[in-house]
Amino acid sequence: MKRKQIVAGNWKMNLNFKEGIKLASDVAKKLPLSDVLVVLGTPAIHLQAVNEVVKNFSGIKVAAQNCHQSEKGAYTGELSLDMIESVGAEYVILGHSERREYFKEDNAVLAKKVDAVLAKGLTPIFCCGEALPIRKKKKHVAHVKKQLQDSLFHLKPAQFSKIVIAYEPIWAIGTGVTATPEQAQEMHKAIRKMIATKYSSKVAEGISILYGGSVKPANAKSLFGQADVDGGLVGGASLKAADFIQVVQGFDQ
Ligand code: PGA
Repeated sequence: MKRKQIVAGNWKMNLNFKEGIKLASDVAKKLPLSDVLVVLGTPAIHLQAVNEVVKNFSGIKVAAQNCHQSEKGAYTGELSLDMIESVGAEYVILGHSERREYFKEDNAVLAKKVDAVLAKGLTPIFCCGEALPIRKKKKHVAHVKKQLQDSLFHLKPAQFSKIVIAYEPIWAIGTGVTATPEQAQEMHKAIRKMIATKYSSKVAEGISILYGGSVKPANAKSLFGQADVDGGLVGGASLKAADFIQVVQGFDQ
């Protein structure tokens, strides 16, 4: 089975409304490529308008960068999945390392968010990855395994099959230091094996696993060329249309 190839941009807290619309329009003029799904992870306030820009392009979708796990209520400043869905977003990035670090999201709350996203019929892009001291101790595979076990492995196979995973080593995010294609491949293969052991090789073979951490035009091709790397989650290089387009073109068509 051919897995879905995905390049997701994560704009984080960048670009005002006008800049965001311009970027989305510039991207939509050149993309998508026939076999690659492009997802734009925009600030919440941009979601509806960016979706209007891209909705006629079947290969471009929008993603929220976070959500609250509750249906609704007194959670000042938070976004519910009903709100996210109502403006046309189909994807939700969950568990980004910045959410884990600055907003203290742990594996347990992420399990609830995953459930809530799936219950709404949307697709989680679930981020995992280790900090540098963990890699130095060669505990990176065990660390990622625990993140998956605690936040995803309670799902039934049919639910799990709807998830997209993004492996993002924290030491590579926004640092300009990219994991080598071999380091990415090693972890992606290990993640696929964990899924095969927990579920089945059929489920494991169907899951798209994206790499994130300083993906840029210069390294996209070698990363995406790895057998178990099915695309990227792209921060800095998603903020300029020309760079992002070149990253997507890193897939051999
Ligand atoms: P970066 O960010 O591409 O700027 O390293 C990736 C991410 O945080 O998703």
